[in-house]
Amino acid sequence: MHLVEATEAQKAERDALTHSEWGTLLNVEGYAAREQRLRAHPWSRADMRTWLLCDEGGSVLASCETFRTDSFLRPPGGELLPGDSFAIASVFTEERLRGRGYATRLMDLLAAELERQPRAHAGLLFSDVGPRIYARSGYQELPAWDWQLSPAPGAPGESVAELLRESDLPRVLGRLRRPEVPFFFWPSPAQLDWHLERGRIYVEHLGCSLPASVGATVGDSTALWGLVGRSAELTVLMFEARSLEDATALLEAARREASRSGLSRVVLWEEPGLAALLPLVEGATRAARQGSLPMVRPLRPALPLSPLLPVPRGLWV
Ligand SMILES: CC(C)(COP(=O)(O)OP(=O)(O)OC[C@H]1O[C@@H](n2cnc3c(N)ncnc32)[C@H](O)[C@@H]1OP(=O)(O)O)[C@@H](O)C(=O)NCCC(=O)NCCS
Repeated sequence: MHLVEATEAQKAERDALTHSEWGTLLNVEGYAAREQRLRAHPWSRADMRTWLLCDEGGSVLASCETFRTDSFLRPPGGELLPGDSFAIASVFTEERLRGRGYATRLMDLLAAELERQPRAHAGLLFSDVGPRIYARSGYQELPAWDWQLSPAPGAPGESVAELLRESDLPRVLGRLRRPEVPFFFWPSPAQLDWHLERGRIYVEHLGCSLPASVGATVGDSTALWGLVGRSAELTVLMFEARSLEDATALLEAARREASRSGLSRVVLWEEPGLAALLPLVEGATRAARQGSLPMVRPLRPALPLSPLLPVPRGLWV
């Protein structure tokens, strides 16, 4: 068995097979069009690759995708050192081929391939099938809790300093504080826009509208959000609140934006730095996340993985 990068034709063949798994809401053609559109997005064009595990005759046994993601080492007292991490998505084995170790072999060969990349830091994935299968290939699970808030009536801009537009993403991402841990992932503006692109595709199937804002700021605190998938929810992609007052103001704006756009709730992923603050926000409830379990695997020796490593929703693939 060996690992190869898929051709365009092979990607389209995999789309036809994975529709049953990930094509909910769309028919086969609509799903194929969605996949093509997402692959044409600037982030995917620059940083996405599709991988196939093949047998000796060239038949495909399993597949997945990787998205290159910026990550940084923070040496004690030194400058941040940039590198490449790889978010892995869409691990798939056809039903008739399952249970023979193909997905595990794919993950092992992929890790070996990624370890050879010159600036490699870590692999990151979001498991929908629990930790066990990926733990075999060296991935460690991180906590996965969500905070949920109901929509609220009112003008979204009233509780905050400014509501953000898509064109604000680079500026606002630049002002977010980088995590104070020895290693972390950090999304690019194009990466965050890729989430919004998913929402632009799904909005016509969901009976809601695209939120007019992509986030808000108040003082030195910032939230970035959007409709990002096949649930009519306002998903917070990045969140930094310097005080309870700021957290409350940002989430109040999010609740109002959800209401204005016809969305059913606001969802925010818990990060270690938010764990003490969020229980104090009125109306926010905590729930164990269903699926999307973050798991990380070092791709170089002695990568300093902290148990406090933040994984915001903006890193999901
Ligand atoms: C998950 C999947 C890729 C596994 O492929 P595979 O080639 O059968 O994988 P392997 O043979 O290497 O390993 C199979 C293991 O995955 C586990 N697994 C498969 N589906 C699972 C599920 N829904 N929940 C929990 N574990 C699951 C099997 O129980 C098995 O574990 P075991 O060997 O400890 O009993 C395949 O079932 C699939 O394509 N599923 C649909 C798409 C999907 O959910 N992909 C994962 C997204 S994170």
